[in-house]
Amino acid sequence: TEPVPGFPQPTEHTQKAYSPTDDFTSRWTRADAKQIKAMSDPNAGSRENSMPKEYTMPTVPQDFPDMSNEEVWVWDTWPLTDEHANQYSVNGQEIIFSLVADRDLGFDERHQYARIGYFYRPAGVPADERPEDGGWTYGGQVFDEGVTGKIFEDQSFSHQTQWSGSARVTKNGEIKLFFTDVAFYRDKDGKDIKPYDPRIALSVGHVHSNKNGVKLTGFDKVTDLLQADGKYYQTAEQNSYFNFRDPFTFEDPAHPGETYMVFEGNTAQKRDEAKCTSEDLGYRKGETNGETVDEVNKSGATYQIGNVGLARAKNKELTEWEFLPPILSANCVTDQTERPQIYMQDGKYYLFTISHRSTFAAGIDGPEGVYGFVGNGIRSDYQPLNRGSGLALGSPSNLNFAAGSPFAPDYNQHPGQFQAYSHYVMPGGLVQSFIDTIGTKEDFVRGGTLGPTVKLDIKGDSATVDYNYGDNGLGAWADIPANRELKNGKA
Ligand code: FRU
Ligand code: FRU
Ligand code: FRU
Repeated sequence: TEPVPGFPQPTEHTQKAYSPTDDFTSRWTRADAKQIKAMSDPNAGSRENSMPKEYTMPTVPQDFPDMSNEEVWVWDTWPLTDEHANQYSVNGQEIIFSLVADRDLGFDERHQYARIGYFYRPAGVPADERPEDGGWTYGGQVFDEGVTGKIFEDQSFSHQTQWSGSARVTKNGEIKLFFTDVAFYRDKDGKDIKPYDPRIALSVGHVHSNKNGVKLTGFDKVTDLLQADGKYYQTAEQNSYFNFRDPFTFEDPAHPGETYMVFEGNTAQKRDEAKCTSEDLGYRKGETNGETVDEVNKSGATYQIGNVGLARAKNKELTEWEFLPPILSANCVTDQTERPQIYMQDGKYYLFTISHRSTFAAGIDGPEGVYGFVGNGIRSDYQPLNRGSGLALGSPSNLNFAAGSPFAPDYNQHPGQFQAYSHYVMPGGLVQSFIDTIGTKEDFVRGGTLGPTVKLDIKGDSATVDYNYGDNGLGAWADIPANRELKNGKA
C-alpha cells in the first residue's frame, strides 16, 4: 500500500518463524500502530465513523435482547474447545463460559466481583430458528463460593474474583478450566492496601449433559499455575497496575506433544524507569515522519508496554508450566493486549488480541476492537494485519474526537464506539463479543450481554468484515455455534 502523506511507513516484518523457545519477540511498533490513524478519515464529522468500513463492525442497534433475562451481567465469553480451538457440543448441548456479575452492581463495578458462569443451549439449531436472544439457559456459577480464594497465601483480601480464561474438553467429559484467579486488597474507600494479585490458574471438573440440561461438577480445587516473573512479565513490584491474565491453551502441529499457552502480560520493566527503544518505534531508514526515541520516552508512552506471553506445559496433566519469552510486545503502543488467542488457517498462525481505545500510548490511537498479526509459527516476526496496522475489527469510532467513556461517551462520538468488546475469533472467522454501551452522550444504554456474531474473511495478511453474513454483516445475537460434537461423554 502507498504511504499516507504525513504518516510513517509501517515496519517491515518477515513473518519468519522461530523456535517457540527462542529469545525472539516480535514488535507491534509505533510505526505499525500509526497506520491505524493513517486510515482514519480526517474529514469524518461529528458522530460519523472515521474508520474504513471493511475493518469496522456494523453498527449494533440499541434494542438488543438480553441473553440472561437480566439475571446477570455478562461480558468476556469463551466456548468449550479442544487443543485446536474447535468448539464442542456435549451430548447435544452447546456450552459457553462467561464472566458474570450481579445485576445489583453497576456494570462498571463488575471487575472486582466477576465470577465464571456458564450457559447452554441445544446444538445444531440454525441461527434463524433460535429465539432472538440466542436461546441460552443460564446454568449458574462454576465454582462454589470460597474455592478460588484458597490459593492465596494472604487471605486478607477484600475482593476475590475470577477473570477470563479458556476451557478444554476431552472425550471422557473432563474439562480443564484455565482462568485468572485474582485477589484485591483494598480498604473501605477502595484504595489498594497492597497491589492486586492476579494468577493464571487451573481447575479440573466434569460436564454432565443430556437433553434436559447441563451440570458441571468437581470444580472444587484450584491449581496455581503461573505468577508473573519480573524477567519476561512485569510484576506488582515493578508496577502495581501490571496486567497478567487471560490464559488460552493450544497445541501446535509443528511441535507435536507440546501444549502452549498465550496470555496477557506487560514488558518486565519498572513503571517509572521504563524505556522504549528504536526497535519498539520501528521506523524505516530515512523515515521523514518518524519520532526520536527520546521524544517518545518523554511523552508518557512508556506507561503502555503490553505484551503477549507464551508458556509451555511441563507435564501431560497441564498442571506445571514454564514461561518462554513473550511472542509480541507493544511497547509504547498499548498497555493492554487482552485475551490473546492463536488461530490457525492455511498453514499460517494468526495471533488475535483485544485492546481498548483508552489503553493506547501517547501519540497512538485506535478503536476498541480486536487486533491481529500473522506469521509462520507461534513465535514469528508477526506481520500486523490490514495495511500493516494490526487493526482486525474495530467498533465504529471517530478518531477525530475524544472517546469519553462507556458511562459518558463523548458528545461527538459515533453511537457504536463502545458497542462491542472482548472479541473472540471462532472457527470459520466468526467473531463474538459483548455489548458495553450503545448510543450517544444523551441517549445510551449499557449492555452486559453478548452482541451479534459477525464474520471476518481472514486471508493472508488481511481480515475484512463479511457483509454478506447475516443481516448486512450482523449475525444472530449471542451466536456461538459448536463445529464438533462430543457424544457419550460422562453424562
Ligand atoms: C482427545 C480428543 C481431543 C478433543 C476431545 C473431544 O482427547 O479427541 O481432540 O479434545 O477428545 O473429542
Ligand atoms: C477497563 C479495565 C479492563 C481490566 C480492568 C481492570 O475496563 O482496564 O480492561 O480488565 O479494567 O480492573
Ligand atoms: C477483558 C478483560 C479481561 C479480564 C476481564 C476482567 O474485557 O479486561 O482482560 O480478564 O475483562 O473483567
